[in-house]
Amino acid sequence: MSDKPLSANEGIKIRSNYLRGTIAEGLADLSTGSLSEDDQQLIKFHGSYQQDDRDLRPDRRKHKLDKAYSFMIRIRLPGGVATPQQWIETDRMADEFANGTIKLTTRQAFQLHGIIKSNLKRTIREINDAAMDSIAACGDVNRNVMCNPNPHLSSIHAEALRAAQQISDHLTPQTRAYHEIWLDGEKVESSEEEVEPIYGRTYLPRKFKITIAVPPSNDVDIYANDLSFIAIVEDGKLAGYNVAVGGGLGMTHGVEATFPRIADVIGFCTPEQVVDVAEKVVMVQRDFGDRTDRKHARLKYTIQDRGVAWFAAELNRYLGYDLGPVRDFVFTDNGDRFGWTTDERGVHHYTLFVQGGRVVDTPGYPMRTGLREIAKVHQGDFRLTANQNLMIANITDERRAEIEELLVKYGMARSHERSALRLASIACVALPTCALALAEAERYLPDVITVLEDELEKFGLRHDSITIRMTGCPNGCGRPFLAEIGFVGRGPDRYNLYLGGGHAGQRLNKLYRQDLDASDILPTLSPILEAYAKEREEGEKFGDFVIRRGYVTATVQGDDFHANIKPEAYPAK
Ligand code: HEM
Ligand code: SF4
Repeated sequence: MSDKPLSANEGIKIRSNYLRGTIAEGLADLSTGSLSEDDQQLIKFHGSYQQDDRDLRPDRRKHKLDKAYSFMIRIRLPGGVATPQQWIETDRMADEFANGTIKLTTRQAFQLHGIIKSNLKRTIREINDAAMDSIAACGDVNRNVMCNPNPHLSSIHAEALRAAQQISDHLTPQTRAYHEIWLDGEKVESSEEEVEPIYGRTYLPRKFKITIAVPPSNDVDIYANDLSFIAIVEDGKLAGYNVAVGGGLGMTHGVEATFPRIADVIGFCTPEQVVDVAEKVVMVQRDFGDRTDRKHARLKYTIQDRGVAWFAAELNRYLGYDLGPVRDFVFTDNGDRFGWTTDERGVHHYTLFVQGGRVVDTPGYPMRTGLREIAKVHQGDFRLTANQNLMIANITDERRAEIEELLVKYGMARSHERSALRLASIACVALPTCALALAEAERYLPDVITVLEDELEKFGLRHDSITIRMTGCPNGCGRPFLAEIGFVGRGPDRYNLYLGGGHAGQRLNKLYRQDLDASDILPTLSPILEAYAKEREEGEKFGDFVIRRGYVTATVQGDDFHANIKPEAYPAK
């Protein structure tokens, strides 16, 4: 055991009495729009972040006003599934309590932004009234369990989705704090009810993320998660899942001890073992994760430090049986399949491109209104994709014409008639709400793509899918370190440019230029795109090309993410 002191958050968790802290009292205090520092940490476990509008900071400072505080609420949707009624309710709450938009996140959740403290309780209560919740959407616990909405293999997908929901239920914190604070649940005095059988009083050292993927699509980016299950289909049946552990993307600029890492595939389990395996992976990390340093606390560091073999052996010990040998699987890409698809049952699905995952009405494109109208008549469900897009799912033959008509009426029928680059883009929220953002992302990436599109057109690359992702800081919420072209904010209008990620999300990228000025993005990328158009081999993906042609070296695993960077990556002093 380390003799370093525990990180401050460990003390907050211990003192919190199973995540209560003084949140209830803080909500009642109307003299300020903010919560105490400790409660700001605790409220994450309830699915909310305290934020402030950073666009308004300078003006408010000038007028000696408090920051414009508000809260973000993240709504968990295991597997990204929402019913039409849940869509309608979320849409209503976006107007009534938030900023009039719904953000579809890269982990298949809804986010509402701009909720003021006095509306927080009511919003969370109404989320629960709509049979959704926000508990454990953030915080040091297992978060929303993801599952890819693979429309081509609907029966396998249905099983995978069921597993995602079971894992989610099993790993949901048991504390009554959420009910007491937000739902006016009765206070339970007996401490027996308080026990967290899986987590214990201090929960996990850090956040924990689980996904399930049905190959060949890796749209959930399994390599970026703490724990993933890869469905293995044999003779048309679900044989079980490969188990992958130790992925995670967040790092800190200038701190080489922090790095993104891709998950290792360590074994195979049967469908019946899935929940048990998830529980035991969580428990190993609970017991061995580093609680002294939050920048070193994710499972990826536990595994990097102690070794994959150690982890696999420890997991088998916790399980009381051994995982089976890894089975063969192939991922082809991590993007979405847009437009109409029809599955093996003859049921239809329409995947809509949603730029930056922001569901909003703009002049000339009333997407949010259109989706509301669709939700009113839709009898299937909605599936949020891990790429911030939306599948209007499970539409029968008889209902298809009606949905199609609405898609046309609201301008959504051709949402995917965009460049393949734009369709394969992700941007995190960043400014103005995210307190950690160093640069723009969601508000800026669309413009970067517009500029690049002219070049792509010139080089004949309009239909070539190249993953492009931008985040406002290196925490990695938009999974930039797995992109073929990744931008990570360093300061206002300044980005690190990373190249060479795997097109199926299987390889991390590498720093190509540090501190690139926004105005230099086009001149830097244009010659590389041109070379790709002219010199690529048959079927060669952009991420592979830039490595073969020596623009960057391949990153093999997290521990060489900061190594073998070419000197020209750094700006001249
Ligand atoms: C130190 C690490 C991290 C911190 C402190 C952090 C913090 C945050 C914050 C404050 C937000 C809210 C932004 C807003 O809505 O205004 C956010 C959003 C989000 N984060 Fe993270 N994050 C971290 C790493 C990651 C990673 C590695 C992932 C996934 C690979 C992730 C997934 C998400 C998702 C899905 C959102 C929702 C917004 C979106 O889809 O753009 N986060 N994060
Ligand atoms: S990557 Fe950074 S800027 Fe973007 S949402 Fe995450 S924490 Fe905020």
